[in-house]
Amino acid sequence: MECDSKLFGISDYCIENKILHNLTLELNTKCNLDCIHCYIPHKVSYGMSTEKVLSIIDEADALGVLNVTLTGGEIFLRDDILDIISYIRRKYMRVFLISNGTLLDRDIIRQLRALNVAELGISLYSTNESIHDHITRRTGSFRKTMSAIMCALTEGLRVVVKTPVMTKNIHTVREIRTFCNDHGIDAEFTCFITSKNNGDNSPRRFQITDKRGFLEFLVSTMDKQSFLKEVKPKNLESNLCKYCKNSIYIDSEGNVFPCNSFLIKIGNIFEDPLKSIWEESTILKKLQEAKYSDITGCSECSLGSYCSFCPGFSYLEYGDYLVCSDENKMYSECRREYHNMILKGLI
Ligand SMILES: C[S@@+](CC[C@H](N)C(=O)[O-])C[C@H]1O[C@@H](n2cnc3c(N)ncnc32)[C@H](O)[C@@H]1O
Ligand code: SF4
Ligand code: SF4
Repeated sequence: MECDSKLFGISDYCIENKILHNLTLELNTKCNLDCIHCYIPHKVSYGMSTEKVLSIIDEADALGVLNVTLTGGEIFLRDDILDIISYIRRKYMRVFLISNGTLLDRDIIRQLRALNVAELGISLYSTNESIHDHITRRTGSFRKTMSAIMCALTEGLRVVVKTPVMTKNIHTVREIRTFCNDHGIDAEFTCFITSKNNGDNSPRRFQITDKRGFLEFLVSTMDKQSFLKEVKPKNLESNLCKYCKNSIYIDSEGNVFPCNSFLIKIGNIFEDPLKSIWEESTILKKLQEAKYSDITGCSECSLGSYCSFCPGFSYLEYGDYLVCSDENKMYSECRREYHNMILKGLI
C-alpha cells in the first residue's frame, strides 16, 4: 500500500523537524492555452533538460522527499513527461500532476494510471462551456478538459478539480461543486488571484474585492464540516507558514523558492546543490521562524480564528511578507460571518 503522509502524521513530523518532504517542480512555462488570469508572464520556456530534471529528482530523493508535484506551463507539452513520471515512481515517490487536461487522451491516462500517479489535478473554471473557454481564451478547451476528467474517472485515476474563483466565474462555481460531488471528485477552490511572477498586476483585475463576493465564494465552495474544523484560536507564536519547513519549489529556470506562492528566491539549482540550499539558506531559516506575533496588529486583532493569512501573497502583492492587507482582513471577516451563519443554522 502506498503511504499517505498526512494520514500517518509524516507531514507534521517533517514540519517539526524541518525535513524536506514535498517538492514542486515547474517543468516548463510553455502552454497551449492563454488564460486571462495566468501568473506566468512569458509562456515560452521548454524548461530544463531531461537530465537536469532527473538529477533534481535524485537530489530530492536523497533528502527524503516523498511527494513530487509537477506543474507548468502545460506539462504534457513535454515529450519526456511520461519518462520523468516513471523515473520518480521508480524511486517510490508519489507523483501529483497539475494540468489543463486538454492534451490528455485515453492512452496517456491509462499510462498515468499504470504508473500509479497519486493525483491528476485539472483546472476547470466553469461547467459552462463559454465561460471556461472565455477564461482560457481557447475555443474548444472546455470539451477537451471535460473529456480528460471523465476519461480519468472511468480509468480509475484520482482527479482533483482546481478552480481559481474570479469575478468572471463566481456565479457558476456552485455548479462545479455539484458536478464534482455527483462524480465523487475532490475540488479545490481559491479566491485569491495573484499578480504575475514578474510583478505585473494585470491578473488582479479579476480578483473578488467585496464582502458580498467573498461570502458568495464561501457559501458556494466550502464544505461546512471541513470549514468548522478550520476555525480555531490563533496562537501568535505559531509559524506564519508551516510549509516553509517541509516543502520547496523549483521553477523552470532552476530558481528555488519556499513555495510557488512565496517567491523569495533562496537559491538556484544550477549553482548549488539542493541539500545546501535547503539546509543553509539564511533567508529560508528566517522565513521558517517567522511568527504571527511578527505582524503588526495581530496581537490586537479579533479575527485570528478565521484568518488564513498567506505570507507569500503579501510578499508578492505588497512587497512585505509581514504585512496583513485590508483584503485579508475583509476575507477573515467574511469567514467569521460564514461561521456565524452555520452556527445559527442559516445555511
Ligand atoms: C499556472 S497553472 C499550471 C498548470 C496547468 N497549466 C493548469 O492550468 O492547470 C496552475 C494553476 O494555477 C492557477 N493560476 C494561474 N494563474 C493564477 C493566478 N494569477 N492566481 C491564482 N491562480 C492562478 C491555474 O488556474 C491553475 O489551476
Ligand atoms: S493552462 Fe495553466 S499555464 Fe496555461 S495559461 Fe492557463 S493557467 Fe497558465
Ligand atoms: S487578519 Fe491580519 S491582523 Fe488579523 S490575525 Fe490575520 S494576519 Fe493578523
